[in-house]
Amino acid sequence: MSLRHSVRYTALGRIALIPFRLGWALTHCWRQATGIVKWAFKSKEYYNYTYHLTELNLAYLVSYIAVVSGHEVAEVEKYVRELETDEALRSLLRERTRSSRDRHNSDVEPLYGRRLGWYALVRATKPRVVVETGVDRGLGTAVLAAAVMRNEQEGFAGLVYATDITPDCGHLLAEPYKTYCQIILGDSVQTLKKFQEPVDIFIHDSDHRPEYEWAEFAAVEPNLHPGSLVLSDNSQQSSKLLEFAQRIGKSFLYFQDQPKDHWWPGDGIGAAFRPGVPTFFPEQTATTRRR
Ligand SMILES: C[S@@+](CC[C@H](N)C(=O)[O-])C[C@H]1O[C@@H](n2cnc3c(N)ncnc32)[C@H](O)[C@@H]1O
Repeated sequence: MSLRHSVRYTALGRIALIPFRLGWALTHCWRQATGIVKWAFKSKEYYNYTYHLTELNLAYLVSYIAVVSGHEVAEVEKYVRELETDEALRSLLRERTRSSRDRHNSDVEPLYGRRLGWYALVRATKPRVVVETGVDRGLGTAVLAAAVMRNEQEGFAGLVYATDITPDCGHLLAEPYKTYCQIILGDSVQTLKKFQEPVDIFIHDSDHRPEYEWAEFAAVEPNLHPGSLVLSDNSQQSSKLLEFAQRIGKSFLYFQDQPKDHWWPGDGIGAAFRPGVPTFFPEQTATTRRR
């Protein structure tokens, strides 16, 4: 019997392989551990981590947004590049971080990660009303407001409504982007229950307990219309958007993000949408924007 054969096909071979297999697996952990040590000294963040996506993952994000929006990959790519190369927004965000009291727990360089997908979706579909629950420092809100601002410069007006329960949220927001968003303080379910306008794009990113996520979807449901897009920043750990999509007769698709040079396993974007339908909100009339 050859050595290769006894390693593969005998009980003794299985035992003999254990130290080698342990070694391969521990090398992987060692790489992770050294990355974590570097991160602990380099980054200041202790929650709501920000990171770049790997190149491959960014390509998948572009494709994902193209499917969800019904727009061409090339168009989505163009919007992703637009945000990546927006130096005015980037330098404002750096400046806002440097001058905030959060500067000891925030990284100066804005890393948008999957928010590039939020931006591209808003740019492609030109919504009139975007609702984001959960503002925190305001990185997502700033990105959404920047998209709405660009849309308005092209003749498609819109507004971002962002809710948060923490009064000092949103320190990253400043003019000219502030004009394109309105922060509504308080519990987001209560805010949504009182919200009057038809919602084109809804993004859940607040309290991530599944029952709370569901309560937000239920609260916003009367404001959704057949063309609305519903997103969740919680679908990596909760099936609530999948269930809600089924309830409102939409399809569900999930994108898992993959952080580049970061220990965090990543989050994702869940979306409830109509497949094969290019979404362009300005074409939807007041009647079709009703349920
Ligand atoms: C994950 S962070 C939001 C991240 C943000 N969207 C971004 O892009 O960076 C969650 C935020 O939800 C807020 N939050 C938690 N519970 C809430 C509630 N019941 N109503 C509204 N906001 C809430 C927190 O204060 C926190 O700022």
